[in-house]
Amino acid sequence: MSKKIIIGNWKMNPLTLKEAEKLFGGVVKGVSIIKNTEIVICPPSIYLDKLTKVRTNKIKLGAQNAFFEQSGAFTGRISGEMLYNIGARYVILGHSERRARGEGNNNINKKIKASLSAGLRPILCVGEDMRDESHSYFNLIKTQIEECLFGVSRNLISKIIIAYEPVWAISTTLNRKDATANDSREMVIFIRKILSDKFGADASKMRIIYGGSVNEKDALEFLKNGGVDGLLVGRASLNAEKFVDIIKICEASSK
Ligand code: 13P
Repeated sequence: MSKKIIIGNWKMNPLTLKEAEKLFGGVVKGVSIIKNTEIVICPPSIYLDKLTKVRTNKIKLGAQNAFFEQSGAFTGRISGEMLYNIGARYVILGHSERRARGEGNNNINKKIKASLSAGLRPILCVGEDMRDESHSYFNLIKTQIEECLFGVSRNLISKIIIAYEPVWAISTTLNRKDATANDSREMVIFIRKILSDKFGADASKMRIIYGGSVNEKDALEFLKNGGVDGLLVGRASLNAEKFVDIIKICEASSK
């Protein structure tokens, strides 16, 4: 089985390259003893080039989006190949903050296939805006997964990580609520069933992680009881100390 994975999504932060280097440097320093946890940081793409030059064999870099064409007349876009060539190895796709601004499953599906061809490992985000009493959010997650993974070849699926991020639990959501490890575990079981119906036994090679206001206080609970193979961390990844704490908690829980 693959190692557990802790991914930091910096979103559109920090404001300067200097701060980005400082934050990254803080994490590099803190994780020198980590052996059994995979660590990925996804900064804004503009910082990737500089951060790939920081010497560390503990942290991999990822992007927060990638377009589905390789190159050409696509003003403002960045392709998976470009990201790979600069040193990124992962890419977050289908994040709820992009979905909220119009990104649909069909587009995400094209990006997943293109990113895989470019050699990147996609981190596919799925999650419901809210939970209703009729539990229709399960259907929404099923549709997100089926449409986003449509036509993806079975021999590549182990490269894909599914990040379950209930939007109602994300730190910046208005009137947010805490999700529990139980909420996570129940959904992970459901997602595993969808994946195994679609891809058979190979689906067990896919990692499923949780994201939504994870911090150094609840990370252990999600890792122990949330049924997940890792965490996708937003706000807490902007604080090197907190992020390193979460990584160390994961490391200790994998022993
Ligand atoms: P927070 O950890 O800030 O809630 O962000 C979660 C997230 O959206 C990570 O992709």
